[in-house]
Amino acid sequence: MIAPSILSADFARLGEQADAVSNADWLHVDAMDAHFVPNLTIGLPVVQSLLNATDLPLDCHLMIEDPDRWAPQYADAGAANVTFHVEAARDAVATARAIRSAGALAGLAVDRDTPLDPYLELLREFDTLLVMTIKAGFGGQAFIPEMLDKVRLARQEVNSGHLRLFIEVDGGISADTIGAAAEAGADVFVAGTAVYGADDPGKAVEALRVLARDRMRA
Ligand code: DX5
Ligand code: ZN
Repeated sequence: MIAPSILSADFARLGEQADAVSNADWLHVDAMDAHFVPNLTIGLPVVQSLLNATDLPLDCHLMIEDPDRWAPQYADAGAANVTFHVEAARDAVATARAIRSAGALAGLAVDRDTPLDPYLELLREFDTLLVMTIKAGFGGQAFIPEMLDKVRLARQEVNSGHLRLFIEVDGGISADTIGAAAEAGADVFVAGTAVYGADDPGKAVEALRVLARDRMRA
């Protein structure tokens, strides 16, 4: 699945910018609170408006403090997938359960400096694992290939029958890097700059999808 990140879109024209990627699978929405990360972006009111403006499933990536309090509200609003950071959560399992009982998929994100091993046991409570392939906070950063070790580990867990999970990569995904991420075992690919920085965002989505499919393991 390809999930264009509207962080790189024109915030004054979000409805049109969603339409420009109507061939995408999910629309990735980065909520940042200027506390968990230094950047400040959008929150629940904009997500509510976007839900009325597009049929694309919204993939909300919450880079915020106190996700235990806020994340279930994104699910209540109608987001398809709600991902929060393990570094910010006080009770990740309770929050995942609250998201799921509000009808959304629950996602756990691990930032660049966070190892995955301590959290493998948690993953059975989640539908999505988001592996940051940059340090969370800003679009347009360079992909960090070493992060794919976490993707490989997650893929191993899934394939050995322990888990049912989407493995999502986020940060620096482009035509040059998506193949490596697919080969490592990712199956959801977030791309901001590579989609909204292109002349034709819809074509960029399709091009990325073809490149990923070519390299995904069976
Ligand atoms: C950054 C966000 C990403 C960002 C990726 O913390 O989580 O979703 O939009 O942007 P690119 O694709 O430009 O690296
Ligand atoms: Zn993101």
